[in-house]
Amino acid sequence: MSKIPVIIDCDPGVDDALALMLAHQINTLDVRAITTVSGNVPADITFRNGRNLVSFIGWEVPVYPGAQKPLMRQVHTASEVHGADGMGGIVLPESNAPKETEAAWDVIYRIAKECKGELQLIAVGPMTNIAIALAKYSDLPQLIRRIVIMGGAAIGGNVTPAAEFNIYVDPEAADMMFASGIPIHMCGLDVTMKAYMTKPELEEMAAIGTKECKLFRDVVQHALKLFETWGMDTVALHDPAAVLYTADDSIFRGEEAGVRVETKGKRTLGKTVTDLYSDKQFDEHHAVVVTDVDREAFLQRVFDLMKKY
Ligand code: RIB
Ligand code: CA
Repeated sequence: MSKIPVIIDCDPGVDDALALMLAHQINTLDVRAITTVSGNVPADITFRNGRNLVSFIGWEVPVYPGAQKPLMRQVHTASEVHGADGMGGIVLPESNAPKETEAAWDVIYRIAKECKGELQLIAVGPMTNIAIALAKYSDLPQLIRRIVIMGGAAIGGNVTPAAEFNIYVDPEAADMMFASGIPIHMCGLDVTMKAYMTKPELEEMAAIGTKECKLFRDVVQHALKLFETWGMDTVALHDPAAVLYTADDSIFRGEEAGVRVETKGKRTLGKTVTDLYSDKQFDEHHAVVVTDVDREAFLQRVFDLMKKY
């Protein structure tokens, strides 16, 4: 089976870190670059975390810096979930890999040209870098095969009752992406909240014994303690779901839909408005809304991949 050329655009970020560890072990993904963006924590920290994480797991993939802030709004982080350092308080050794300076949006375009229309993006942070690339390079939509995102929700939200974090942080960027005509596969909260791990399953992961499997358990502990105050004792593997979906969507279920983003609402700002459950349909259906996953099969894949370290 030929490999899928991808760029992972992320905001590490605890679950981004898990997603990167898993992506490294998926043989069918040819990860050409990792690009980082302001999101869970400020951009300089997501860039540093991306660099340190890939060095920690011995992955020689280039990491490039991206947008310092959303297109039109102030920086909005989730440091209460991910820790001020974005890694749940876990300190990794500083990477001594060369520090890339090429901007994320230029990298996306350069590699899209190199891949001659076959490149797929996996976007698991706010979509600011993608929007800038779309604004700067008018032919980019013809060069991107698909964008798989962790973001949005047909129903619900985790920043407000209407909006999921990655969309809420930069709704204008997200709407530019959905309006671009590029096929978007949306792994939103509808499916990622079903892709969860329990505390015993996290301990089972750590018991595998490698430094990577221990990091998998350790890096989510800060978030887990916060979730427990909310009455939850599981961790949703939001970003890993988008990565595993990209590689093989056979254990997921999704439906074609039209999706646009609310950029003006007082109570609905950042909502991914889908026509999935609506009589009134959008004119264009460029999206697939992923709504379900076989959790047991998902978890088996997560363990199988982590056991490769
Ligand atoms: O809503 C969850 C998403 O927002 C995840 O990608 C998490 O890392 C944050 O970026
Ligand atoms: Ca993320």
